Amino acid sequence: MALAKLVPFAVEQWMDQHESRAKYNIAETCVASISLDELQDLSENKESELWSSSTKLTYGTIQGSEKLRSNLANLYSAKKPLQADKILITPGAIAANMTVLYSLVGKGDHVICHYPTYQQLYEVPKSLGAEVDLWRSKERRKWQLDIEELKALIRPNTKMVIINNPQNPTGTIISKSTLDSLIEVAEEHNLIIMADEVYRPLFHSISPMSPDFPPSVLSLPYLKVIATGSVSKAYSLAGIRVGWIASRSSELIEACAQARAYTTISVSQIDDQVAAYALSQDVIHGLLNRNIQLAKRNLGILAMFVESFRWACEWVKPIAGTTAFIKFSKMGQDIDDVAFCEKLIEETGIMLCPGSMCFGEEFKGYVRFGFCCETYVLDEGLEKLREFMRKGYQTLPLAEEI
Ligand SMILES: Cc1ncc(COP(=O)(O)O)c(C=O)c1O
Repeated sequence: MALAKLVPFAVEQWMDQHESRAKYNIAETCVASISLDELQDLSENKESELWSSSTKLTYGTIQGSEKLRSNLANLYSAKKPLQADKILITPGAIAANMTVLYSLVGKGDHVICHYPTYQQLYEVPKSLGAEVDLWRSKERRKWQLDIEELKALIRPNTKMVIINNPQNPTGTIISKSTLDSLIEVAEEHNLIIMADEVYRPLFHSISPMSPDFPPSVLSLPYLKVIATGSVSKAYSLAGIRVGWIASRSSELIEACAQARAYTTISVSQIDDQVAAYALSQDVIHGLLNRNIQLAKRNLGILAMFVESFRWACEWVKPIAGTTAFIKFSKMGQDIDDVAFCEKLIEETGIMLCPGSMCFGEEFKGYVRFGFCCETYVLDEGLEKLREFMRKGYQTLPLAEEI
């Protein structure tokens, strides 16, 4: 029987359609991208080489270079060492997610997915023939997940629970205590936990000392967990397509390696070397410090905007990651977020992301801001948006009118 076709990937299509003409791109989810020159400037060791142009461009090590995989393994070794061979390098987290889902989910399986989130995480399992239920985080609970609701969703054929932590689009986190409860449930029902952790470790508004601070799922005491990540978001390097799959389970990694062999062979050796350099001890601290400072500064600027337009917008202030999900209304009624975003890009060059189009119909009125762009872009873009709020906002249609 043919598998269900994939439905359009709304957020990626929206980005593709508008990105090139945006004057103020406040929709991008990466922390402002950097050049190789800037990356080298962030290094504490100016002697260390980023790339040697005399290197022969072979396929390299098929699953990813030893250097890159051991730098990544260090990131997951805070509680217990992780071996480099438990990591597979992929072209971005998008390929990592695809590989994990293709390898581990199929017809007859039931999958539960955190919601709202990146559409790939629930559409791909559906297309593979799995039944998917959404585990909804709700704004009135500050986008937190309820473990009792998860328990009620579990069926005899539930195979996997998918989470996204920190979360796109809300910028919230799944707290340590919720992760602990999730692991208990997973253990009891023998479930695989897949965590898209592409926004780790961009924790701009929570201290690592906080009891809520979420560890990676790989630091939790349960073997059947698998994490995906990349250098695109927290490390500002989306232009090298480097992501990864990591698990402590040889069985899970082996299953993914088998599927990966059909799509990837290896990633670009240049990309692999640049990523290894960025994640080395000489560079990673400077890079993350730049990005966390930028996120804090820009979030402060966005918070001032929200405060001054309280009559029109409300939010749960983000804690981590690069996005904020802001709800816009007029006299208590949701505005048409798609018309709002379309009008903004047409008339002002401001690019935002409409919630109901990109994250599900129920998010009418919501707009996702990617606030970790260059600070001047955010400043200038919000200035333009202020002007629009004063002059054009009242003319926007309400969500119900379409
Ligand atoms: C939650 C999530 N996962 C994965 C990706 C893909 O990222 P990349 O392939 O650039 O690593 C994105 C991009 O927006 C995302 O938001």
